[in-house]
Amino acid sequence: MIKGFIFDLDGVITDTAELHFAAWKKLSDDMDWQFDRDLNEKLRGISRMDSIKVIMDHNNVSLKEETIMELATQKNDIYVESLDHMTPEDYLPGAKELLTHLRSEGFSVALGSASKNAEKVLKQLNATHYFDVIGDGNSVSRSKPAPDIFLYASEKMGLSPERCIVFEDAEKGIDAAKASNFYSVGIGPEERVGHADVRFDTMKEATLFEVKSHFKDLF
Ligand code: BG6
Ligand code: MG
Repeated sequence: MIKGFIFDLDGVITDTAELHFAAWKKLSDDMDWQFDRDLNEKLRGISRMDSIKVIMDHNNVSLKEETIMELATQKNDIYVESLDHMTPEDYLPGAKELLTHLRSEGFSVALGSASKNAEKVLKQLNATHYFDVIGDGNSVSRSKPAPDIFLYASEKMGLSPERCIVFEDAEKGIDAAKASNFYSVGIGPEERVGHADVRFDTMKEATLFEVKSHFKDLF
């Protein structure tokens, strides 16, 4: 029986992709690196350090680890500042309604995000109270596609993976869920999350009714 839900943050609860894009673009322009929206898509779900390495590979750049960390910090400073403008109006349509519904039905709810800024994002949205457990980029060392963040969240909820449904918008996030036998809901296009157990174009369609209808033997 399903008792818990684990949510990715960026692209599921709120859309931060544009803010990440603007921050990476600023760093790339300063460094004279090529960076566009297609490349930004490849960063969906992966950690900050993995992201900068993808951008550097794309530009055939290699730098000392220390320099890479400094540049990633520069990008993060830009990103964190942009979060100041995020408000409780910035949930993706349907996300707040689903979280409210899950709480009212008594399910356990956890965050399973790769972001080290998850607490700030939740605070800006006024969403912290929806979560029993917060798993973020500071909770585990291996990031998606490793299943560690979801295992951390399910263990803290006291539930085995087979009793949890993971919501993810990233290809590597669905890979992570499947790697440890979590049920998965993909949010986004077929070519990105078509390997999830069930897929919706947006969070608006991903109501508890629709999710229960799909996994009907598990409720
Ligand atoms: C993920 C985003 O949620 O968090 C990625 O999808 C991002 O794009 C990653 O790189 C790490 O975020 P942060 O806030 O720790 O730089
Ligand atoms: Mg995401």
